[in-house]
Amino acid sequence: MIKISASILAADFARLGEEVVKADRCGCEMIHFDVMDAHFVPNLTFGPMVLSALRPLTDRFMDVHLMVTDPLFLAPEYAKAGADGITFHAEAVPGRLKEAIEYIHGLGVKAGCSIKPGTPVEVIEDVLPMLDLALVMTVEPGFGGQKLIPETLEKVRRIRELAPGLDIQVDGGVNDKTLARALQAGANVIVMGTGFFRAEDPAKVVRDSAQLYREIVGPEA
Ligand code: DX5
Ligand code: ZN
Repeated sequence: MIKISASILAADFARLGEEVVKADRCGCEMIHFDVMDAHFVPNLTFGPMVLSALRPLTDRFMDVHLMVTDPLFLAPEYAKAGADGITFHAEAVPGRLKEAIEYIHGLGVKAGCSIKPGTPVEVIEDVLPMLDLALVMTVEPGFGGQKLIPETLEKVRRIRELAPGLDIQVDGGVNDKTLARALQAGANVIVMGTGFFRAEDPAKVVRDSAQLYREIVGPEA
């Protein structure tokens, strides 16, 4: 099944609660919560207090993407604030991927691991069986509204071969024009920031994405 994870980085921050409710009502399975620390990436976003404030507004899966230098320090705060899943970056914890996944599972939430465009699949290959989600960044992390880097989709293809049943997420520059290529490569969890929140008819974006998934992957998938 396709799951759209609406990235609130592209939402109207003056109306953040309403934007989360909109994503829920439009059928987005997940709300994507981008955490940036102005160190791992050159941008700064939301702390756990913002997540706590949004949590009561929806039952959708709160999909926290930690683009931070010290994910293990911050993960418990986001788990307490209501995250359903926490994704960390492999580049932030070299040699400690297993430890990071076990730690996140110990917090009672799903664990995801992300790789930047320049990081090869081999880095996460051994831990794929432990993961609930693999995130392939399709842009350099840090900002919304960038163009998808097509070469990154080869990594999605590779992970799909290695882990046929795994949730594979793509993040960055995915919209109605690039979605088909991401689905063909094997992605099934689709982060959409600009493509959803800035669309004229966001509910239609979700419906059309599900239809495209059925056409490409099949009705049973
Ligand atoms: C980028 C973030 C993305 C971003 C995607 O570092 O991880 O989640 O919000 O935004 P769009 O869909 O606009 O490329
Ligand atoms: Zn993200």
